[in-house]
Amino acid sequence: MDPTATTARSITVTVNGVRYERTVSVRTSLADFVRHDLGLTGTHVGCEQGSCGACTLLLDGEPVRSCLMLAVQADGRELTSVEGLAPAGGELHPIQQAFWEHHGLQCGFCTPGILLTTYDLLRREHGPSPCAIREALTGHICRCTGYDGIVRSVQAADQEWER
Ligand code: FES
Ligand code: FES
Repeated sequence: MDPTATTARSITVTVNGVRYERTVSVRTSLADFVRHDLGLTGTHVGCEQGSCGACTLLLDGEPVRSCLMLAVQADGRELTSVEGLAPAGGELHPIQQAFWEHHGLQCGFCTPGILLTTYDLLRREHGPSPCAIREALTGHICRCTGYDGIVRSVQAADQEWER
């Protein structure tokens, strides 16, 4: 029996609208797959235990912690990473623009995950209260901003994003 048959699998995923076919180790996390196999390094890895939210991706439209998933679990599914929010070389997405203008980031390590959770929140809700924004972002740790700038940025994005 081929020893790689139990340790590697061929998977097909669509990421930011692009279809990829890759052979991956069954032990590879989805975060490592996106970063190392696909080169989409906007997805960050902090705690690797589901606490910080830096690795958040949208899987079939729902935020997931990609450090807690295996790449093989994404087989046949659609992912959005922060690179998918705005096309390369184009304008920023209104959420990104709002974070830029309202000091929603400093070092930026937490930012990709927060942007994707904000995208999910604002697609579902118009005019979320500061309390609702904080609740939606409870799964994200930011060491820099104190969160006030983030909440203001989400409120501004809510106003600016025509969806
Ligand atoms: S790296 Fe995934 S939650 Fe922290
Ligand atoms: S901006 Fe630095 S961790 Fe959030």
